[in-house]
Amino acid sequence: MKLQLRFLPFIFIAILALLFALWAGLLRLGWALPTFDHLATAHGPLMVCGFLGVLIPLERAVAIRQKWMFGVPLIAGAGWVTLFFAPSLGAVLLTLGSLGALAILGVMVEREPQIHTIVMALGALAWLVGNFLWMLGWPIFQVVFWWMAFLVLTIGGERLELSRVLRPTPNAIRLFSLLAAALLAGSILAIFELNLGSRLGGFALLGLALWFLRFDLARRNLRHLNPLTRYIATCLFGGFLWLGISGGLFLYLGALYAGPFYDAALHAVFVGFVIAMIFGHAPIIFPAILGAQVKFYPAFYVHLGLLHLSLALRLVGDLTLQMTLRQWGGLLNEIAILLFLGLTVFSIVKGSQSK
Ligand code: HEM
Repeated sequence: MKLQLRFLPFIFIAILALLFALWAGLLRLGWALPTFDHLATAHGPLMVCGFLGVLIPLERAVAIRQKWMFGVPLIAGAGWVTLFFAPSLGAVLLTLGSLGALAILGVMVEREPQIHTIVMALGALAWLVGNFLWMLGWPIFQVVFWWMAFLVLTIGGERLELSRVLRPTPNAIRLFSLLAAALLAGSILAIFELNLGSRLGGFALLGLALWFLRFDLARRNLRHLNPLTRYIATCLFGGFLWLGISGGLFLYLGALYAGPFYDAALHAVFVGFVIAMIFGHAPIIFPAILGAQVKFYPAFYVHLGLLHLSLALRLVGDLTLQMTLRQWGGLLNEIAILLFLGLTVFSIVKGSQSK
């Protein structure tokens, strides 16, 4: 299979945002590293809007192939770079990027008005609202539910699409829709009444996690004969468990503003769910973008296992206020992500060489 390298610059922009975000994450954990203005505060926006805000619209643009759509990851890319020297302008550009992402989803819903495209469009809408409020100066601890809804609904829509082969009953779909609506309602409420909004959002995350554990294809594929399919299912299954843990923490703890409990509740979903989903979906996404096969290696379980173990360490550190444990857990989270990147590049190169 031949590699198509024309989309590589976009992937480079997304990965660069990820690397800056990882660096900023270590600073936020208290590791003494060199830094520059606005780096540490940009960690969350770099992860959500820089890294994923470039990668997700890129995947859609490659699938639909309308030229204007490629402008969306470019605007988001310009946005995260601008955050370092003109943060307000960076936020404006990122908000424009999310508006573009919603426009792409508009095209998808028009072409295929199904529950999964509608859920993904709601995810894009959540990203736009979150970015808009953040651009207006709302603190991140209040808009972060919108960013979570963006990622959870985007991934949720993808999972609904892929799980269609199981023919979920109308009741199951209704339940999913109610939980997605509760997540959006929690995000709205968090703007006016953070405590109640966090608890409602937490309830919705917990409910969605249970829904995925029960109805997603992953459960069935855990014992699949194909090792790649089995690996993907393992990534997803672990991610669903972390989603539930995050939901349980928000439901129990209510309003969080900063500090170790905030870190635990946020990263159970952002690292445990979102990054595990990326580990699992990479063998599907990269072939779509780069026209390259991802060859499966059992070593994929090393970065997956390290991600889960180190996140568990980090959460134990957070919840028992042991800062050294939290610091090492966070560092090992990052090593797991870097191992994943290295092995994925290796596997793409190998896959492109095989006939
Ligand atoms: C993988 C390693 C990561 C590390 C070491 C890390 C570290 C941190 C730390 C220490 C905080 C501050 C928590 C506090 O107030 O004590 C934070 C906040 C945050 N992180 Fe991460 N993080 C990581 C991954 C991610 C990912 C993957 C995402 C999103 C997809 C993310 C999104 C956020 C957001 C939105 C905030 C809130 C920012 C704010 O309130 O200013 N992080 N992170």
